[in-house]
Amino acid sequence: MSKRSAYIRSIGRYLPERKLTNGDFEEMVDTTDEWILSRTGIHERRILDPGLGNSYMAAPAAKECLERAGVDPEEIDTIIVGTVTPDMVFPSTSCVVQKAIGAKNAFALDINAGCCGFLYSLTVATQMIESGRMNKVLVIGSDVMSTITDYTDRNTCVLFGDAAAAVLLEACGEPGYGILDFILHTDGAGEEHLYMKAGGSRRPSSLETVTNREHFIHQDGPSVFKTAVIEMANVSAEILEKNGLTGDDISLFVPHQANHRIIDAAARRMGIDKGKVVINISKYGNTTSATIPLALYEAVVEKTHRVTRGDYVVMSAFGAGYTWGSILLRWYE
Ligand code: UT7
Repeated sequence: MSKRSAYIRSIGRYLPERKLTNGDFEEMVDTTDEWILSRTGIHERRILDPGLGNSYMAAPAAKECLERAGVDPEEIDTIIVGTVTPDMVFPSTSCVVQKAIGAKNAFALDINAGCCGFLYSLTVATQMIESGRMNKVLVIGSDVMSTITDYTDRNTCVLFGDAAAAVLLEACGEPGYGILDFILHTDGAGEEHLYMKAGGSRRPSSLETVTNREHFIHQDGPSVFKTAVIEMANVSAEILEKNGLTGDDISLFVPHQANHRIIDAAARRMGIDKGKVVINISKYGNTTSATIPLALYEAVVEKTHRVTRGDYVVMSAFGAGYTWGSILLRWYE
């Protein structure tokens, strides 16, 4: 008997309305539009109004996703939110979303895997469905990076934005379609290059941690960049080789959006045409766990790219941990 698979049935998203442009940053820190655009590819990002929190974005993204599929929230078995910026340390943001959307039969959990939050969450959800225990899993990538961004630090503040996007993962009746394979990696040695120092149990919040600005992203950009360029390219090529495919076989590459130079390196290594690569970093910056489903939304719902039943799609990411990985799927509709 062939293995049961999981496929992406629907997508939804939430984008805050407020924009922060490179011009705005020229007023805030010692930077230029030219530097930001040429070094990162970012032109503007969306910023959530203060005090609203992650679930304010994640819940409407989930609702749009379910509405598009015509699925009742009570049919959902599991909700997984990939995030590094939850509403609170506990309960998980997925619990808040469960209540907000009325998914009263779902159990809910968050996954923190840095910028790989969505890929890791999708992998876990896929295996829940493949096991036969779950039929419908909502996988949400949602981050309010503005709440942990130091807007006095030019090294990091220009990079990040806020957004949420959700996919409905469902059991696929036809063999050979849906999520086919994944490769995930972790190297905990990456901790020293990308972290938020305080607010956890090792260094709880205190007057000192606030005064020292320890509740913000700390990133050694060039070190992260060097590893990201190598590993995201390697893992993107690795999943092709493992499955006997080349760049020509792939219809859509949906990479994490941290830096257009990292994306270009991965696409080159895969040997894939630029026209098949979804790049929206100029509009949203790095939204951490949201980048991949947000890019997929543009490609599929807004039809910026062509993807039809049977097409091969690759998603890849690299982020804090370090974590990195790729997923191969065959589009099903
Ligand atoms: O998604 C999670 C994983 N994160 C990433 O993948 C991000 C990876 N890192 C990067 O994307 C890049 O490292 C950056 C975009 C952050 C920086 O680009 P870079 O090519 O690694 O840096 P660079 O060598 O071109 O520039 C570094 C210089 C430094 O100046 P000095 O020390 O060389 O004088 C910085 O102070 O650029 C300076 N710099 C800036 N200058 C103007 C850093 N930020 C800015 C800025 N405006 N906003």
